[in-house]
Amino acid sequence: MKHLAVFASGRGSNYEAIENAILNNEIDDCCISLLVCDNQDAHVIKLAEKFKRKTFVFDPKGYKNKSEYESDIVEQLKEHKVDLICLAGYMGIIGDILLEAYPNRIINIHPSLLPSFKGSSGIKDAFEYGVKVFGITIHYVSKEIDSGEIIAQRAFEYDGDKIEEVEACIHKIEHELYPQTIKKLIKEQGV
Ligand code: GRF
Repeated sequence: MKHLAVFASGRGSNYEAIENAILNNEIDDCCISLLVCDNQDAHVIKLAEKFKRKTFVFDPKGYKNKSEYESDIVEQLKEHKVDLICLAGYMGIIGDILLEAYPNRIINIHPSLLPSFKGSSGIKDAFEYGVKVFGITIHYVSKEIDSGEIIAQRAFEYDGDKIEEVEACIHKIEHELYPQTIKKLIKEQGV
Protein backbone atom coordinates (compact mmCIF):
# COMPACT_ATOMS: atom_id res chain seq x y z
CA MET A 1 0.00 0.00 0.00
CA LYS A 2 1.43 3.36 -1.07
CA HIS A 3 0.80 6.37 1.13
CA LEU A 4 0.20 9.77 -0.40
CA ALA A 5 0.27 13.22 1.14
CA VAL A 6 -1.61 15.97 -0.65
CA PHE A 7 -0.48 19.57 -0.10
CA ALA A 8 -3.14 22.19 -0.82
CA SER A 9 -3.92 25.79 0.14
CA GLY A 10 -7.40 26.53 -1.18
CA ARG A 11 -10.45 25.01 -2.78
CA GLY A 12 -9.21 21.43 -2.99
CA SER A 13 -11.01 20.15 -6.06
CA ASN A 14 -7.92 18.20 -7.17
CA TYR A 15 -7.56 16.73 -3.69
CA GLU A 16 -11.21 15.67 -3.88
CA ALA A 17 -10.70 14.15 -7.33
CA ILE A 18 -7.81 12.01 -6.02
CA GLU A 19 -9.88 10.89 -3.02
CA ASN A 20 -12.78 9.95 -5.30
CA ALA A 21 -10.51 8.06 -7.68
CA ILE A 22 -9.19 6.01 -4.75
CA LEU A 23 -12.73 5.39 -3.46
CA ASN A 24 -13.83 4.25 -6.93
CA ASN A 25 -10.87 1.86 -7.17
CA GLU A 26 -9.39 3.81 -10.06
CA ILE A 27 -6.04 3.87 -8.24
CA ASP A 28 -5.14 0.54 -6.65
CA ASP A 29 -3.10 -0.08 -3.58
CA CYS A 30 -2.96 3.53 -2.47
CA CYS A 31 -4.34 5.80 0.24
CA ILE A 32 -4.06 9.42 1.27
CA SER A 33 -2.54 9.42 4.72
CA LEU A 34 -2.15 13.16 5.25
CA LEU A 35 -3.39 16.51 3.98
CA VAL A 36 -0.89 19.33 4.50
CA CYS A 37 -2.31 22.85 4.33
CA ASP A 38 -0.71 26.25 4.93
CA ASN A 39 -4.00 28.17 5.13
CA GLN A 40 -6.31 27.58 8.05
CA ASP A 41 -9.29 29.06 6.16
CA ALA A 42 -8.93 26.79 3.14
CA HIS A 43 -11.99 24.89 1.96
CA VAL A 44 -9.81 21.82 1.40
CA ILE A 45 -9.66 21.30 5.19
CA LYS A 46 -13.44 20.75 5.25
CA LEU A 47 -13.08 18.23 2.44
CA ALA A 48 -10.37 16.36 4.35
CA GLU A 49 -12.69 16.20 7.37
CA LYS A 50 -15.40 14.76 5.15
CA PHE A 51 -13.00 12.03 4.02
CA LYS A 52 -11.86 11.57 7.65
CA ARG A 53 -8.24 12.31 6.82
CA LYS A 54 -5.47 13.38 9.15
CA THR A 55 -4.46 16.97 8.48
CA PHE A 56 -1.41 19.05 9.26
CA VAL A 57 -2.49 22.68 9.07
CA PHE A 58 0.18 25.24 9.82
CA ASP A 59 0.77 28.98 9.56
CA PRO A 60 4.10 29.75 7.85
CA LYS A 61 4.12 33.11 9.66
CA GLY A 62 4.28 31.27 12.98
CA TYR A 63 7.77 29.96 12.15
CA LYS A 64 11.16 31.67 11.97
CA ASN A 65 11.80 30.41 8.46
CA LYS A 66 10.88 27.84 5.80
CA SER A 67 13.43 25.29 7.05
CA GLU A 68 11.70 25.24 10.43
CA TYR A 69 8.24 24.55 9.13
CA GLU A 70 9.46 22.14 6.48
CA SER A 71 11.23 20.16 9.21
CA ASP A 72 7.90 19.89 11.03
CA ILE A 73 6.21 18.79 7.81
CA VAL A 74 8.87 16.13 7.19
CA GLU A 75 8.33 14.79 10.70
CA GLN A 76 4.60 14.48 9.97
CA LEU A 77 5.24 12.84 6.61
CA LYS A 78 7.56 10.25 8.15
CA GLU A 79 5.08 9.55 10.91
CA HIS A 80 2.43 8.85 8.28
CA LYS A 81 4.83 6.77 6.14
CA VAL A 82 4.32 8.96 3.09
CA ASP A 83 5.79 7.66 -0.19
CA LEU A 84 4.64 10.36 -2.60
CA ILE A 85 3.75 14.03 -2.15
CA CYS A 86 1.16 15.50 -4.53
CA LEU A 87 0.93 19.27 -4.64
CA ALA A 88 -2.58 20.33 -5.59
CA GLY A 89 -2.98 24.07 -5.46
CA TYR A 90 -0.35 24.44 -2.75
CA MET A 91 0.75 28.07 -2.80
CA GLY A 92 4.00 27.63 -0.85
CA ILE A 93 7.33 27.15 -2.59
CA ILE A 94 8.94 23.80 -1.74
CA GLY A 95 12.36 24.30 -0.14
CA ASP A 96 15.53 22.27 0.34
CA ILE A 97 14.43 20.35 3.43
CA LEU A 98 11.46 18.77 1.64
CA LEU A 99 13.30 18.32 -1.66
CA GLU A 100 16.14 16.50 0.07
CA ALA A 101 13.83 14.35 2.20
CA TYR A 102 11.70 13.30 -0.82
CA PRO A 103 13.90 13.35 -3.94
CA ASN A 104 11.80 12.64 -7.07
CA ARG A 105 8.86 12.00 -4.80
CA ILE A 106 7.14 15.39 -5.04
CA ILE A 107 4.85 16.12 -7.99
CA ASN A 108 2.76 19.15 -8.91
CA ILE A 109 -0.14 19.96 -11.19
CA HIS A 110 0.07 23.22 -13.10
CA PRO A 111 -2.74 24.75 -15.20
CA SER A 112 -0.73 25.51 -18.34
CA LEU A 113 1.38 23.71 -20.91
CA LEU A 114 4.78 24.18 -19.30
CA PRO A 115 7.29 25.62 -19.94
CA SER A 116 4.81 28.34 -21.00
CA PHE A 117 2.99 30.38 -18.37
CA LYS A 118 4.76 29.42 -15.17
CA GLY A 119 3.65 30.99 -11.90
CA SER A 120 0.45 31.43 -9.96
CA SER A 121 -1.74 32.89 -12.73
CA GLY A 122 -1.08 30.44 -15.54
CA ILE A 123 -4.64 30.32 -16.89
CA LYS A 124 -5.10 34.10 -16.89
CA ASP A 125 -1.69 34.68 -18.46
CA ALA A 126 -2.32 32.17 -21.24
CA PHE A 127 -5.82 33.59 -21.87
CA GLU A 128 -4.58 37.19 -21.99
CA TYR A 129 -1.75 36.19 -24.30
CA GLY A 130 -4.38 34.86 -26.67
CA VAL A 131 -3.19 31.28 -27.04
CA LYS A 132 -5.51 28.92 -28.92
CA VAL A 133 -4.25 25.73 -27.31
CA PHE A 134 -4.48 25.48 -23.53
CA GLY A 135 -3.58 22.64 -21.24
CA ILE A 136 -2.19 21.29 -18.03
CA THR A 137 1.09 19.77 -16.86
CA ILE A 138 2.04 17.33 -14.13
CA HIS A 139 5.72 17.52 -13.28
CA TYR A 140 8.28 16.66 -10.67
CA VAL A 141 9.03 19.49 -8.28
CA SER A 142 12.55 20.88 -8.39
CA LYS A 143 14.31 23.92 -6.95
CA GLU A 144 13.08 26.24 -9.70
CA ILE A 145 9.35 26.92 -9.77
CA ASP A 146 7.33 24.96 -12.37
CA SER A 147 10.52 23.69 -14.01
CA GLY A 148 10.98 20.05 -12.99
CA GLU A 149 10.81 17.12 -15.37
CA ILE A 150 7.44 16.78 -17.10
CA ILE A 151 5.50 13.61 -16.34
CA ALA A 152 2.23 14.20 -18.24
CA GLN A 153 0.44 16.90 -20.20
CA ARG A 154 -2.97 17.28 -21.79
CA ALA A 155 -4.03 19.99 -24.23
CA PHE A 156 -7.25 21.31 -25.76
CA GLU A 157 -8.14 23.94 -28.31
CA TYR A 158 -10.22 26.97 -27.36
CA ASP A 159 -10.97 29.96 -29.54
CA GLY A 160 -13.69 31.65 -27.49
CA ASP A 161 -13.59 34.73 -25.27
CA LYS A 162 -14.71 33.44 -21.86
CA ILE A 163 -11.98 32.70 -19.37
CA GLU A 164 -14.54 30.87 -17.20
CA GLU A 165 -14.96 28.30 -19.98
CA VAL A 166 -11.21 27.77 -20.15
CA GLU A 167 -11.03 27.39 -16.36
CA ALA A 168 -13.84 24.84 -16.36
CA CYS A 169 -12.13 22.80 -19.04
CA ILE A 170 -8.75 23.00 -17.28
CA HIS A 171 -10.24 21.75 -14.02
CA LYS A 172 -12.14 18.96 -15.74
CA ILE A 173 -8.99 17.55 -17.34
CA GLU A 174 -6.98 18.11 -14.15
CA HIS A 175 -9.43 15.94 -12.24
CA GLU A 176 -8.95 13.16 -14.78
CA LEU A 177 -5.22 13.38 -15.45
CA TYR A 178 -3.92 13.79 -11.89
CA PRO A 179 -5.41 10.51 -10.58
CA GLN A 180 -4.39 8.71 -13.80
CA THR A 181 -0.83 9.94 -13.46
CA ILE A 182 -0.60 8.92 -9.81
CA LYS A 183 -1.86 5.49 -10.77
CA LYS A 184 0.77 5.24 -13.52
CA LEU A 185 3.61 6.34 -11.24
CA ILE A 186 2.65 3.76 -8.64
CA LYS A 187 2.30 1.01 -11.22
CA GLU A 188 5.34 1.75 -13.34
CA GLN A 189 7.76 3.17 -10.83
CA GLY A 190 6.46 1.73 -7.61
CA VAL A 191 6.56 5.18 -6.02
C1 GRF B 1 -5.35 23.97 -10.00
O1 GRF B 1 -5.78 24.63 -11.16
C2 GRF B 1 -3.91 23.56 -10.12
O2 GRF B 1 -3.49 23.34 -11.43
C3 GRF B 1 -3.18 24.77 -9.56
O3 GRF B 1 -3.99 25.24 -8.54
C4 GRF B 1 -5.36 24.90 -8.81
C5 GRF B 1 -5.88 24.24 -7.57
O4 GRF B 1 -7.26 24.03 -7.62
N1 GRF B 1 -1.85 24.41 -9.13
P1 GRF B 1 -7.97 23.16 -6.49
O5 GRF B 1 -7.63 23.80 -5.15
O6 GRF B 1 -7.45 21.76 -6.59
O7 GRF B 1 -9.43 23.25 -6.79
